[in-house]
Amino acid sequence: MKLISLALTCVAIALLSIACTETATPTNTNTSRTAATPATPSPSPSVDPLATARANYAKNCEACHGEQGTGGLVKVDNKQIKVASLKADHAIKHTDDQLAKVITGGEEEMPAFKDKLSQQEIADLVRFIRKEFQGKP
Ligand code: HEC
Repeated sequence: MKLISLALTCVAIALLSIACTETATPTNTNTSRTAATPATPSPSPSVDPLATARANYAKNCEACHGEQGTGGLVKVDNKQIKVASLKADHAIKHTDDQLAKVITGGEEEMPAFKDKLSQQEIADLVRFIRKEFQGKP
């Protein structure tokens, strides 16, 4: 007899706990959260469009023309050479084509870069020189 009542209590408790958990489950079907609209991606990720040209300049040109493009007297292969300033009037007055031509084909002590850089890279270098050293857009 004791055993039966114990079993019954158990069943009752079991049923109760099921009922309890059932009412406890939140019925939040109404509170359907409107999905947050994803933030619109910023139109221009802050990537420097001249980053490649900057790197190319540092690698190929800086040794002679200097970090600031000012050129001057530079010792190359135990030879003193006078490097044109990319900030000087002379360089400013040249057209883009003329500058690209000097970079492509070289001039006097200025080495030719046609085998090292693509036409696009040279064009980007001209833009870089204009902007960075000559303050032009
Ligand atoms: C070995 C040294 C050296 C290196 C490296 C060099 N240059 Fe020159 N560059 C010169 C010299 C010297 C001149 C002047 C040439 C002349 O007297 O006609 C010059 C001239 C120029 C000119 C023409 C300036 C003007 O007013 O006519 C441009 C543009 C130029 N360099 C860009 C570059 C770029 C871009 C690079 C790298 C890709 C580069 N140079 C690498 C030595 C160098």
